[in-house]
Amino acid sequence: MCGIVGYIGKKPIVPLLLNGLQTLEYRGYDSAGIAWLGPENDLCMFKKEGKLSNLRSHVDALHFHNDDAVEYRGIAHTRWATHGSPTDENAHPHTSADGNIVLIHNGIIENYTELRDELKAKGYSFKSSTDTETIVLLLEDILKTETNFLKALQRLTSRLVGAYALGIMDKRQMGKLYGVRNFAPLVLGVGDGEMFLASDSVAIVEHTNEVVFLKDGQIVELTATGYHIEDFAGKQVITDSETIAASQMILDKKGFRHFMLKEIYDQPDVIRRLLSEHLKGDTDPVSILDKPALALFKNPKRIVIVGCGSSLNAGLVGKYFMEAVARIDVNVESAGEYRYRDTLVDEDTIIIAISQSGETADTLTAIRQCKEKGAKVVTVTNRVDSTMARESDAVVNVHAGLEVSVCATKSFVAQVVVLYLLGLQVAEDRGTLKANELENLKHQLKQLPTQIETMLANTDTVHTVAKKYGSKENMLFIGRSMNYPTAMEGALKLKEVSYIHAEGYSASELKHGPIAMLDQDMPIVAVLTPGPLYEKMISSCQEAKARDAQVIAIHAGPVQQEAADTFDDIITVPTTHEWLSPVVAVVPMQFLAYYIAEHLGKDVDQPRNLAKSVTVE
Ligand code: AGP
Repeated sequence: MCGIVGYIGKKPIVPLLLNGLQTLEYRGYDSAGIAWLGPENDLCMFKKEGKLSNLRSHVDALHFHNDDAVEYRGIAHTRWATHGSPTDENAHPHTSADGNIVLIHNGIIENYTELRDELKAKGYSFKSSTDTETIVLLLEDILKTETNFLKALQRLTSRLVGAYALGIMDKRQMGKLYGVRNFAPLVLGVGDGEMFLASDSVAIVEHTNEVVFLKDGQIVELTATGYHIEDFAGKQVITDSETIAASQMILDKKGFRHFMLKEIYDQPDVIRRLLSEHLKGDTDPVSILDKPALALFKNPKRIVIVGCGSSLNAGLVGKYFMEAVARIDVNVESAGEYRYRDTLVDEDTIIIAISQSGETADTLTAIRQCKEKGAKVVTVTNRVDSTMARESDAVVNVHAGLEVSVCATKSFVAQVVVLYLLGLQVAEDRGTLKANELENLKHQLKQLPTQIETMLANTDTVHTVAKKYGSKENMLFIGRSMNYPTAMEGALKLKEVSYIHAEGYSASELKHGPIAMLDQDMPIVAVLTPGPLYEKMISSCQEAKARDAQVIAIHAGPVQQEAADTFDDIITVPTTHEWLSPVVAVVPMQFLAYYIAEHLGKDVDQPRNLAKSVTVE
């Protein structure tokens, strides 16, 4: 959600921190700030609401340049408002009353009202409405009786309830920078005579790929030449740095107007990459899981898929598929709900966590709880360096490449394809599918990239449909079976980037309520692909039509004459196996959302209020 960048060293500090923030910009935020301390220990601090460009132009106007070969330290932050509106005052960094401490924060302090009251009673006054300011004032208060800064930070953490990653400078701690991690990601970068701090390695990988991922409950003290880590109890933690791949992190629109559009066009290659790695020929075995991970699926009591948003929708496709091919009972759960339930998870349970970012707070907490109960966790993620990946028993890389647009597109498709491969491998292992069925599914999987390419080559119809319906205020998406989750994904895409109210339903639910909404102002997007429920979908469309709703069919292959009159618009998608159809059906929905948002002039890649990685509850 929020972004943290910190630096200590001799490089030009302002561009380094601002460029670091820029790499995190895609995650969504509403204000930004920067602070640095030079050799004279004078604090320079600037905060601006809105886009990073506001802060950048303000700071650029100062024409600030580091003195050559002199060490500076600084911290910078992009804020996604939780407490207090996005204003200059509420933007981070926040400072102590005496001006010595400068602090940035990702996360939420749950007991901040109590702490605020306590500090107010002691005479502290607040300049912002944030929970963050309580942290810096509390630290100031602790430092009145504790001269050892690390011990003061330990005392601070013992008072804070919630999730937080902190970046801290104190004028009195010359040449030092501090980081604190508790349920919010924080990584430190090791350079040659310089050190970095960031909420995501993306922000520092341009400078170093030697990193240390802090664990929850750890504090780091950085100097330009090294780092010292302690846990919240004051025990030193010895951790070697690790080398991460830098190539994934390049932010390049490749000539497309928006990242979302580029990422939709990336999809055939993403699928090809997965298939070439894990499925050679039609008769070759699938290799998405290694042997120990595959062994987990031999005879589990239960499988539970957890995720949020698009990852949850992908999980639902996975459930239908795994049940069909591998004959295992699979439940799908919204991680934010699951973590608060008294679940029946035990050591015979497999949790499949699905998360593009690998940092989603709800999903991460859910898997931690399940691990405590003895379950084995397999994480399907696009970020193998993420916290979830590092805490799981097995990790499957969806290899979608960095997804910059807040709206998930290629990562959704990659997750679904990974779940197909996983289902097929487990089916193969358990012998639940006949050889010819397996071969057919594998063969059809391999056709998907080319089939998607045919859709990408001609988007005229979906463009026209977007223009025709782009001014509507509501839209309903319906599907059956595996395209029920696709309908939910289509609705999620539309509301996310265009802010048009949209809902996804199983068409079977239409008569149980939503049909009351139907009239000429409520278009329906219906997914119709071959399969046993095709005729049922036609009936649902006819019922909608009879209530004056305009029906947009996302239809596999040619439409029979008798059905054609039911539809106001038809977007044709290639015909594939019923179970694989979500991958082709979702593409026009992604385009529909994109074109409508673009037509309405919305901020496609960074929709309002959203963040790419939801690291708070
Ligand atoms: C999808 O377009 C959304 N941006 C959002 O629903 C996302 O899928 C969700 O927040 C989960 O994120 P994750 O996959 O990184 O865990």
